Amino acid sequence: MSRLLRIKPMSMLSQEAGEQGEHTLKRSLGALNLITLGIGAIIGAGIFVLTGQAAATSAGPAVSLSFVLAGIVCAFAGLCYAEFASIIPIAGSAYTYGYATLGEFVAWIIGWDLGLEYGFGAATVASGWSGYFNSLLQQIGIYIPPQLTATPGTPLVFYQQQWMHLSALPAGIDAAPLQHATGLFNLVAMLAIVVITAVLVIGIKESANLNSAIVVVKLSIVGIFIALGGYYLILHPALAFHNWHPFFPPSDGHGNFGYLGVATGASSIFFAYIGFDAVSTAAQEAKNPQRDMPIGILGSLAVCTVLYILVSTVLTGLKNYKELNVEAPVALGIKVTGIGWGELLVNVGAVFGLGTVMLVMLLGQSRVFFSMSRDGLLPKWASAIHPKFRTPWISSIAVGAVVAIMPGFLPIDQLSKLVNIGTLLAFTIVCAGVWVLRVRHPDLHRPFKTPFVPLVPILGIVTALFLMTRLPKITWEVMIGWLLFGLVIYFGYSIRHSKVQKLAKAQEGD
Ligand code: ALA
Repeated sequence: MSRLLRIKPMSMLSQEAGEQGEHTLKRSLGALNLITLGIGAIIGAGIFVLTGQAAATSAGPAVSLSFVLAGIVCAFAGLCYAEFASIIPIAGSAYTYGYATLGEFVAWIIGWDLGLEYGFGAATVASGWSGYFNSLLQQIGIYIPPQLTATPGTPLVFYQQQWMHLSALPAGIDAAPLQHATGLFNLVAMLAIVVITAVLVIGIKESANLNSAIVVVKLSIVGIFIALGGYYLILHPALAFHNWHPFFPPSDGHGNFGYLGVATGASSIFFAYIGFDAVSTAAQEAKNPQRDMPIGILGSLAVCTVLYILVSTVLTGLKNYKELNVEAPVALGIKVTGIGWGELLVNVGAVFGLGTVMLVMLLGQSRVFFSMSRDGLLPKWASAIHPKFRTPWISSIAVGAVVAIMPGFLPIDQLSKLVNIGTLLAFTIVCAGVWVLRVRHPDLHRPFKTPFVPLVPILGIVTALFLMTRLPKITWEVMIGWLLFGLVIYFGYSIRHSKVQKLAKAQEGD
């Protein structure tokens, strides 16, 4: 039992954080890089795709309140992440923090659980990306065989020069006379992951620069949508009034709509906030991690919260929530303003913008495996650094290969909910970890301190657990299955190869 509770000594962590040279990652990211890395990870399929679905199926116009609720949950967790990231500035995210505080076993669970967040997260975004990419191609007259753009069995129809899901066909249109097709697998989404993996193998510096440029494009598009849409609504208050009423559509008796629908919607659009914690996985590449990690995490979270509330308010004002269950709802919303280039602009922005999200997610995933491998919990090859590019290339390629398969075969709503449950679990563990560490090591130097401990960690745990209860049973089952699979690897391999265990044994032998 005591073996499972072994913690990674702070001295070992600091030593790793301070290591320089051939076989370590480059320290090239400043505070602004980290905020852009965060925004690059945060704004993505959540706001561009899932907002529409959550409004149509769970919350109605009150989806803007879902963003407030999910934002609050993330703020509690973000404050805890920031304290951890400032104390333990090395790659590995919540996994590393768990190792230093709650013991190897919990750390393993978090690290494995982060696979649900980053790996499945990248897959989810690839799925959303393919929707906007197809929409863009079709706008300029290029048609990929529709069978290769959707998951197996998805019914598709050709309407107004576009292939779309049958469910997205506007109400009142008869599908019978339209051309039909059935999805085989989503090749477009799979190829997206392959390309991003190649970018990551070539190097973090190049990736970060590319990310900064695209974040500017993405923020501009979101800003333009808010400005054009908001102005249109000011000129057409009757439309806004009509679409925002009733603000809480009547409950369906299954937790959707009504007041509870706000929470159900929040458990779904929570995905839109995921990514701020990915900043912490880049700590080993930050120039001044002690100061800049909290700025990166909290800064990117704050910017996105404000933007999301505005986007969802404008979107549900422009288009009735019932019509928003489509692959590219933001593009549909801007169409209402009648500005011809609006849709094209949103499509282009989403294609580039979602690309950066996949990049950060895959980066996070390969870095977590990198750390686990350096600790001996995963085989050595996962932490091999490329001699020229100085990136963990083998783990990047392995992760990319596995992640590429998922969006080919699973639809976005299922993928995103799995990611949400995995991430919420990681949040609860991190919040608990901050509290435990305060009790066990009260005198540790904390460049950033979470305010009001233990109140903030407790609120973080309770609110995250509450959102988890709003997710379907199947997501709980898959998460538990995934964790059990992880346990097999832990007891089959990791516990015998762990460096911390070996060190402890050696010290006992002295
Ligand atoms: N928050 C990211 C997104 O919405 C993961 O795509």
